[in-house]
Amino acid sequence: MPLLEIKHVGYQYAGSGAQSIDNINLTLEANSINVIIGPSGIGKSTLLNLIAGYLKPQIGELRMNDQPIQKASWQRGIVFQDMALYPWLNVSQNITFGPRMRKVPKQQINQRLAVLLQETGLEKFKSSYVYELSGGLKQRVALAREFINQPDILMLDESFSALDNLTRDEMHQILLELWTNTGNCVIVITHDIDEALYLGQNIIIMNGRPGTVQQTVTNPYFKSTFDTMINNSEYFSFRRMLLDQLK
Ligand SMILES: Nc1ncnc2c1ncn2[C@@H]1O[C@H](COP(=O)(O)OP(=O)(O)OP(=O)(O)O)[C@@H](O)[C@H]1O
Ligand SMILES: [Mg+2]
Repeated sequence: MPLLEIKHVGYQYAGSGAQSIDNINLTLEANSINVIIGPSGIGKSTLLNLIAGYLKPQIGELRMNDQPIQKASWQRGIVFQDMALYPWLNVSQNITFGPRMRKVPKQQINQRLAVLLQETGLEKFKSSYVYELSGGLKQRVALAREFINQPDILMLDESFSALDNLTRDEMHQILLELWTNTGNCVIVITHDIDEALYLGQNIIIMNGRPGTVQQTVTNPYFKSTFDTMINNSEYFSFRRMLLDQLK
């Protein structure tokens, strides 16, 4: 059974004259990392908010583990670009906020925190307040804060788009390591074709009016960097084929 099933989903915002997305069909498995790519305004964030349970579709249905998605849950987390960390809490307190609120046993929280601090390289910043941190370090905190919940689905809505290239590469490594160790389903939204090619086992292309899923492709170049593919003409044809579908 797939982890997430989206069937014929359509959504229209109240007061807007038209549907934002229509007839979305998508099936995602546990232990997969998937990228959604598509032009601005096509409905990528709307789709994430539907998966999270923040929005409810007027048409179609979304199911996780064969149960309808009816409301927001810590089992489905979103990391946003502006991440909204708590400035009055330090790094450790930010990361553990969710499970502390849910009354997860302290020992379990501390165990997970120790592992996450190590995996994200935040060990030496654990007592720093988040306003003292660079953008890249804040993104690590935002990722750790979601991964500590061990959600079934973790979504990133253009989380890395404001970072410089080097910091973004570091975040890709950290994300892949966290994902490999957790085995959950990760969904990454990006505008960046090279980020999609590096991070996505599956690349989901959204386009059309209203927005819909046009194609899902298995990516043979998952985790292959642009630098290593520089003389590979098949890679560039594949990249071009994807770019053509984003027009
Ligand atoms: N709260 C809202 N009320 C009315 N319309 C909205 C609302 N939020 C989004 N929309 C519209 O729904 C459509 C899809 O928006 P959405 O933000 O999901 O697109 P997106 O693909 O995430 O875009 P971007 O890449 O710019 O983030 C757009 O036409 C947008 O104007
Ligand atoms: Mg968006």
